[in-house]
Amino acid sequence: MTLDLFDSLGGMEPREETLGPGARVLRGFARAQEEAVLSALHDITSASPFRHMETPGGFRMSVAMTSCGAWGWVTDRTGYRYAAEDPVQGRPWPQMPEVLRELARTAAASAGFAAFCPDSCLMNRYVPGAKMSLHQDKDERDFSAPIVSVSLGLPAVFLFGGTERKDRPARVRLSHGDVVVWGGPARLRYHGVMPLKPGHHPRLGAQRINLTFRKAC
Ligand code: SIN
Ligand code: FE2
Repeated sequence: MTLDLFDSLGGMEPREETLGPGARVLRGFARAQEEAVLSALHDITSASPFRHMETPGGFRMSVAMTSCGAWGWVTDRTGYRYAAEDPVQGRPWPQMPEVLRELARTAAASAGFAAFCPDSCLMNRYVPGAKMSLHQDKDERDFSAPIVSVSLGLPAVFLFGGTERKDRPARVRLSHGDVVVWGGPARLRYHGVMPLKPGHHPRLGAQRINLTFRKAC
C-alpha cells in the first residue's frame, strides 16, 4: 500500500496525497493552529460534553460524540439526523469558533473546494478499542459541499472505500494534525476507522479526537 510505504519513510512523505478524484490527505495541515484548536475543543466539550449515543438498532456507539455549529449530528432509537439543539443539555450546540471554521475553509480550498461554509462540526472521541464501521456521510441535505476531517491525538487507521460498500477500502494512517478532504466525485465514498490502538499522545493522552466539518442543512 503506497500510503503506508510513504509513512514508513518518515520525513519523506509528501505533504499532500490523493486518495482519488476529489479526495486528499493534507499532512499536518492543522498543526499551525494547534493551540487555538485545542482551546476551542476544551470550550466546546465543557458546554456540550462527549456522550455515547445509541444507534437506531439499539447499539451503544464505542465512539463518544458532540457537535458545534448551527447543527449537530445525533442518533437514537428513532434514527440519524441533524438537530439544532443538544438533546442532553436541552439548548443549542456551542457556536462554531472562527478558528475551526477558518481551518475547515482553508483545508477545503487547498483540496480544490472553494467557498466551503460548514454549519456543523461533529466531534468524535476514540479511546483504545473504539472504532467506526464503514459508512457514507449522507444525512446532509446536499452533497455539493465536501467533508473536511481533522485528526488530533493518537494515530488511527482510516479506511477509505469506494462508493459501494463492497469496494475494498484503502488504509490510511492519520496522525495529529492531518486533514482529509473528500467531495465532488468522492463525496459519498464509504469510510471508517479501525479500532484505536493504545498509546499516549503528548497533548491529548490516550485518545484520538476527530472533527468532521459538514454543510448539513
Ligand atoms: C466520521 O466518519 O465521522 C469520522 C471519521 C474519523 O474519525 O476519522
Ligand atoms: Fe463519516
